[in-house]
Amino acid sequence: MTTVVLEPTPAHVARAARALARGEPVAFPTETVYGLAAPVFDERAIARVFSVKERPTFDPLIVHVSESTIEASSVLARLEEQDLVEGSSLAPGAREAAERLLRSFWPGPFTLVLPKRPAVPDLVTAGLPTVALRMPRHPVAQALIAAAGAPLAAPSANRFGRLSPTTAAAVVAELGGRIEIVLDGGACAVGVESTVVALDPEGRPRVLRPGGTPLEAIERIAGAKVHAADAAGDARAGPKSSPGMLASHYAPSKPLLLLPGPAARMDAAAASEARAALPGGTERVGLLVVFGEPEAGRLALASALGCQVIARTLSPSGDLEEAARRLFAALRELDASEAEVLFAEPCPIRTGLGHAIADRLERAARRLPRGAGGPGAL
Ligand code: TXA
Ligand code: MG
Repeated sequence: MTTVVLEPTPAHVARAARALARGEPVAFPTETVYGLAAPVFDERAIARVFSVKERPTFDPLIVHVSESTIEASSVLARLEEQDLVEGSSLAPGAREAAERLLRSFWPGPFTLVLPKRPAVPDLVTAGLPTVALRMPRHPVAQALIAAAGAPLAAPSANRFGRLSPTTAAAVVAELGGRIEIVLDGGACAVGVESTVVALDPEGRPRVLRPGGTPLEAIERIAGAKVHAADAAGDARAGPKSSPGMLASHYAPSKPLLLLPGPAARMDAAAASEARAALPGGTERVGLLVVFGEPEAGRLALASALGCQVIARTLSPSGDLEEAARRLFAALRELDASEAEVLFAEPCPIRTGLGHAIADRLERAARRLPRGAGGPGAL
């Protein structure tokens, strides 16, 4: 199959919608990362999404809804009318909190898990009684949902367990030859996936995946402290309690090792630890600097390891939003470079988008080297 990258003109969006109607998955831009879409009620098309991605069926998809949903006097009522959400299964406290959160954060990088209607295929939700819903704010995503005339179930447009794509070229690198159409909306503005939230019966939010909507903003709207699921906790709990939150997610194909701090300020202990972790005979390594110019860190790591270092920075000026926007692209560049092993600095800020950056780096870093087996080998 030849994959074509199309400018998102109205004619091309219409062509993409026709492909969707034939059951062909289409890759499209959102403000977070590129997604791979299929109409939510078309089970055969959904099955194609799983097979194109090589995604295991225990990992549920996010359903993307039209921005017209927010125009209704009750967002939840609109989601019920669309046969997505079973409102009668929601306790009054959760109902009220859901309405408030959706009004505050839609359209945008915010996904809410709600009780599902039987019409939503079990394949979409991995057999769970709940469905994850998001209203993307990217105009091309909205144009595609409108042209398709149905909500679109869409995971990130990468092969399972690998880095999410934030450009059309990255989608082609992941899925070229497996899909017909990539709509090119340029580089994604947010760069990390949506924040996934579930509610308890009292309407208290629990964050299942940190992402593009900061926890602090959710706490402000919910009027309650938000419990954040951490990468290590989820890995221990396994895929059942928090599906899809595998430790080995979002990983480059090369081993990635997390440094204890900024490379430029590496002490003797950190240097010898990095040396010990390095496979014998390694000649080139990659370095992901989070904030600042990469040169000082590059020199420090090169002298610690005695090998060549290829460095990238997420934000020379120390801007958290820029760092999030560049995260997957920078990891992808290092993965495609001549480096054999990658090192990353930890994210020094754990507020705002810092949660999501730290989470993705920790999950990527848990990946075992290729061929080592274990869940990461998927
Ligand atoms: O920003 C995003 O959310 C992107 C763009 C394309 O919208 N999508 C995305 O989808 O990141 P994906 O498939 O890579 O991640 C979906 C994750 C699942 O792995 C799981 O952790 C969570 O959303 N999820 C989906 N349905 C769920 C459910 N019913 N209960 C709990 N978690 C769910
Ligand atoms: Mg994904």
